[in-house]
Amino acid sequence: MKIIKKIKVDLGDRSYPIIIGNGIYGNKNLYRNSNPKNSILVSTKKIKNLKNSSIPKRFYNSEILIGDGENFKNLNSCESIYKNLLKNKYSRDCCLLAYGGGVIGDITGYVAATYLRGVNFIQVPTTLLSMVDSSVGGKTGVNHSLGKNMIGAFYQPQSVIIDLDSLKTLPKKQFNAGMAEVIKYGVIYDKQFFEWLEKNKKKIISLDRVSLAKIIATSCKIKAEIVAKDEKESGIRAILNLGHTFGHAIEKNIGYGRWTHGAAVACGMVIASELSEKLGKLSKNDLSRIKNLLSYFDLPIKLPKKLNASKLYEAMKNDKKVLNNKIRLIIPKKIGECFISDKFSKSTILKTLEINRDQ
Ligand code: GLY
Repeated sequence: MKIIKKIKVDLGDRSYPIIIGNGIYGNKNLYRNSNPKNSILVSTKKIKNLKNSSIPKRFYNSEILIGDGENFKNLNSCESIYKNLLKNKYSRDCCLLAYGGGVIGDITGYVAATYLRGVNFIQVPTTLLSMVDSSVGGKTGVNHSLGKNMIGAFYQPQSVIIDLDSLKTLPKKQFNAGMAEVIKYGVIYDKQFFEWLEKNKKKIISLDRVSLAKIIATSCKIKAEIVAKDEKESGIRAILNLGHTFGHAIEKNIGYGRWTHGAAVACGMVIASELSEKLGKLSKNDLSRIKNLLSYFDLPIKLPKKLNASKLYEAMKNDKKVLNNKIRLIIPKKIGECFISDKFSKSTILKTLEINRDQ
């Protein structure tokens, strides 16, 4: 059992630690502000059956298992959790342990934000994507039939517990999806980190422990820094959405679940980078470095041929960042630096989508 790194998300009296280590689920000190008698594990059957890692039963009183996958990220799943908590008379001092990937973390966080007007919860992410992105920063919520993540709340956990051992059973496709978000941090914020990823990609793909700890800790540190500056996304936090406006439109048009979220974000990141290069901002060299690194992790850098540019554009208009009917995009200026702009005509966006489609 070894704690490798602790990172603080600095939000005044709502600050909390992100603890990264190997085999650390048995350490009782990590379950901050929770009482095992009043703690409820929220997870799925599939995750609970993983052999390599599990939260010892002595840290919770009961468990609620919901369906696995994005299709279950809705108010019906919340309702089944509320019902269970109410039937079992869990009071305001209860604590939910969100044990799983991004879907479990987002649903559990939203239930924690709303059950009895707010109870404690702890994020225990088991996928790379949820370790480096969704478990940190307090975005919680569910999908609505009219849009992804449209119902939700900003609500911070008590702590985030990241056990690298749980990555051992993660399917390669899911690991690569997480890498899209890791690479994103290099592109938007940290040139040296991007260079480090380029140099160490072989070690990362072979799940070298030291390299995994480094990519997760650096990603969480960058995210913690941005969230501490702008918790509710009224400014800089929006840069964390590089590739996401295109990505969400791809997911919607291709059909949810066909591509991983990370794959859609990767492709979106490339389109945003192409747009930047065409506008004379991003250099050709930086553009190809971004594409090469994403391709190394088997992430798509072209839109599927069958996707229609106008339909993608329509879906982009439903993005939460749209203001005054204008699509706002995060655009890389160079590796390690980006900007936000809404100064794109419909025809520029459509043209960029067309040239990024598989021929
Ligand atoms: N996933 C983007 C954010 O947490 O702001």
